[in-house]
Amino acid sequence: MNVLERLRQSFAAATPEGGEPSAFAAAVRPSGDAKFGDYQANGCMALAKSLGKNPRELASQVARAVDLEPLAPSPEVAGPGFLNVRLRDEWIARALDALSNDSTLGVSSPARPKTVVVDYSSPNVAKPMHVGHIRSTVIGDSLARIFTALGHRVIRDNHLGDWGSQFGMILWGWKNHRDEAAYAAEPVRELARLYRFAQDRIKAGESAVEDAARNETAKLHAGDPENRALWEQFMPHCLKALEALYERLGVSFDVQLGESFYDPMLDGVVKELETKALAVESEGATVVFTEESKAPFIVRKSDGAYNYATTDLATIRYREETWHPDEALYVVDSRQGDHFKQLFAVARRWGYNRTDFEHVAFGTILGPDRRPFKTRSGDVIGLESLLDEAVAEARKVVDENSPDLTPEERQHVAEVVGLGAIKYADLAQNRLSDYVFDWNKMLAMNGNTGAYLQYAYARIQSIFRKGNVTAEAIHELRPAIVLTNPAERALGVRILRFPETLELAAAELKPNILTDYLFDLANQFSTFFEECPVLKAESAERPDSRLALCDLVGRTLKKGLDLLGIDVVDRM
Ligand code: ARG
Repeated sequence: MNVLERLRQSFAAATPEGGEPSAFAAAVRPSGDAKFGDYQANGCMALAKSLGKNPRELASQVARAVDLEPLAPSPEVAGPGFLNVRLRDEWIARALDALSNDSTLGVSSPARPKTVVVDYSSPNVAKPMHVGHIRSTVIGDSLARIFTALGHRVIRDNHLGDWGSQFGMILWGWKNHRDEAAYAAEPVRELARLYRFAQDRIKAGESAVEDAARNETAKLHAGDPENRALWEQFMPHCLKALEALYERLGVSFDVQLGESFYDPMLDGVVKELETKALAVESEGATVVFTEESKAPFIVRKSDGAYNYATTDLATIRYREETWHPDEALYVVDSRQGDHFKQLFAVARRWGYNRTDFEHVAFGTILGPDRRPFKTRSGDVIGLESLLDEAVAEARKVVDENSPDLTPEERQHVAEVVGLGAIKYADLAQNRLSDYVFDWNKMLAMNGNTGAYLQYAYARIQSIFRKGNVTAEAIHELRPAIVLTNPAERALGVRILRFPETLELAAAELKPNILTDYLFDLANQFSTFFEECPVLKAESAERPDSRLALCDLVGRTLKKGLDLLGIDVVDRM
């Protein structure tokens, strides 16, 4: 059990009469400032208010009653009624000893693992993937990694948009304007061109094109053999291109069930909703009314076509029957908020009320002009060229900082740093905010960036190289950790926070809780490294202990970055 959890249980057990133990426990948090100890319990103010008591007196009462041993002595009462917990140095040192040989870095398995479906990335195929899709892909991947690390059963599901109106546009384009040679050379590029071509003409107001494209979509859905055969011919090319991108990003899925997979189930879903009197006729369409929204949730349009909503309902039923998830996470742009609010409400009324459905919403990536990010051509930037640009930008930084590496080594470092920079810049945001895409900021060696953390990791490896030691040798030696300098102690407290950080990030579905933690850890390491010589430590100061601390920090950075989907290098 992690430190925070242990403290919370002790405070829950000591909750004064009239208090709700879980609320009292939840108000225990790591403290932001070491002045106030390592953890703070802030539940006394709210509780005193509801009980009509004096908060400071209540806090003293709790301080006397709570038993935090062996982690810490009685907490100190501060301010209006805060309780400050200071861990015992000796306990910290022994807890760190125990971590030295623990490959999980203190993360223990849950008593009851949860089954969590993560629906992420989910691009509309055959359209060029754009920068907005990076957010779903990167955030979803990170959450899947974090839940897995915590011992839960995770199903990574790429809900591909492979059945939508873009195919109608492509089919129309293919039949009227295709370039066979271009298709033979680069099929996906040609399909994207046809899509854009159709889209541009529709945007320009050519309603004949719009009608024709809609007709092609309808024919595809109705099972027209020609359109169906073309769709089957296009799909493998689209999937292959996506696969290459995922491989480069280090992202993988357990299942990739697109909208087309659910098509045969849509009839049955709507019938079932009608039988259960959940769906009703309204202005020619079939809809479900929910308390959550004034607008009806349309499951069959007045022209008889099923839509995004119908598919999502079929998807829910399939997932429920196949995996019985405890949690279903939808990592999708916040602009789809209304859709998911209604969808979840309908699912609950339909009977799927055991699952915790969550729309893991995120904001928009903005350009320097604070408008949605575009390239010079005015197009929403393609994801692939963005990744290439990231690596090229990183290469400039690497060439400047590491002239001693060979060109091949520098290229490898640039790949790791460039992709890491993009992912980290995204994950470090509170996901609900929009953020401005800025190469200089995201590749900076100082500040809250991927490169800064990767550099901290590489620095630790360079200490080992200089000292002629290996991580394995340190593990075998199992030196006892000694905390003589305050910077060592502060670093030790941070290392022990790794498991609880993952729990908090998973509970709030926010990878930025992990990035904040890693940034804090790297800063603490920097302070330690300035104040505590490692290789030149006097024998009384135990160089082995400091090397062991370095090793723990290195492993925590590596594992933490891995949970963000980011690699490390030994030199940079
Ligand atoms: N394909 C959709 C889009 O690109 C996202 C799908 C999200 N997942 C879902 N189950 N609705 O906007």
